[in-house]
Amino acid sequence: MEAPRLRLRLPFLLLVALVVSPPANGWPPVAAAARRMRIEPLPTAALRRLYDTSNYGKLQLNNGLALTPQMGWNSWNFFACNINEAVIRDTADALVSTGLADLGYNYVNIDDCWSNVKRGKGDQLLPDPKTFPSGIKALADYVHGKGLKLGIYSDAGIFTCQVRPGSLYHEKDDAAIFASWGVDYLKYDNCYNLGIKPKDRYPPMRDALNSTGRQIFYSLCEWGQDDPALWAGKVGNSWRTTDDIQDTWKSMTDIADKNNKWASYAGPGGWNDPDMLEVGNGGMTFAEYRAHFSIWPLS
Ligand SMILES: *[C@@H]1O[C@H](CO)[C@@H](O)[C@H](O)[C@H]1NC(C)=O
Repeated sequence: MEAPRLRLRLPFLLLVALVVSPPANGWPPVAAAARRMRIEPLPTAALRRLYDTSNYGKLQLNNGLALTPQMGWNSWNFFACNINEAVIRDTADALVSTGLADLGYNYVNIDDCWSNVKRGKGDQLLPDPKTFPSGIKALADYVHGKGLKLGIYSDAGIFTCQVRPGSLYHEKDDAAIFASWGVDYLKYDNCYNLGIKPKDRYPPMRDALNSTGRQIFYSLCEWGQDDPALWAGKVGNSWRTTDDIQDTWKSMTDIADKNNKWASYAGPGGWNDPDMLEVGNGGMTFAEYRAHFSIWPLS
């Protein structure tokens, strides 16, 4: 019942995404597409602001990363907690052998469940010895050897969502150990946050990452709760704008709709993150996945 109605919405969605997406440097298809579709530019102040790119960069975290939105793979949407070092290595191999790496899909991001349930004697984060026996440094070396980058996961709370150690109040030490392992990307989640505001919990990790001297992409995942587009530009390289995606057409289109309103806050250095793709995971049709894949770069 629902599907035909939602399908009808698609052209509208794509159209809206095109219209409100900021024209990234030298992206003339916006104007061309608008002409093709005979969209008259609306001469309102709000719309003019959407196209105002003069603040790009100035408003964003200046760590030299995220000049374009991050692309790659993350373990969660398919493997959830069932990960191990072989899965990560195999995925790195697959990114190269399928040609995706050549297209720019270069981040191999480990999500929750990589770490031991307890910190070490010196309070340091440890990889789970059963699933990551060779350690994260070895994995980073492997991934780097393929010309790819390795991402890891932690949480701006006392535990991760799967109840592994969180990095709240351990920001300096955890950032230092990630850097020492050669990590290139941190997804920073929002579980067990003690009710402290994201604006207070996310900047300390930004500063800790910066002080390692290693360039580490900082991906905020506070689920869009405190409208991060309004403040996270100076904190992270991307910020989740919504709750978690599900592998359904309804979830995907809902997220695309909600994400749209923040388009003007995205730009080189800091991007809206509508959550990770579900393409290939089985919950949508091929055509729906194709739409999903097409809408995400517009977000
Ligand atoms: C740390 O922050 C300073 C000031 O924004 C910036 O110039 C520098 O590139 C940053 N370094 C890293 C490694 O992110």
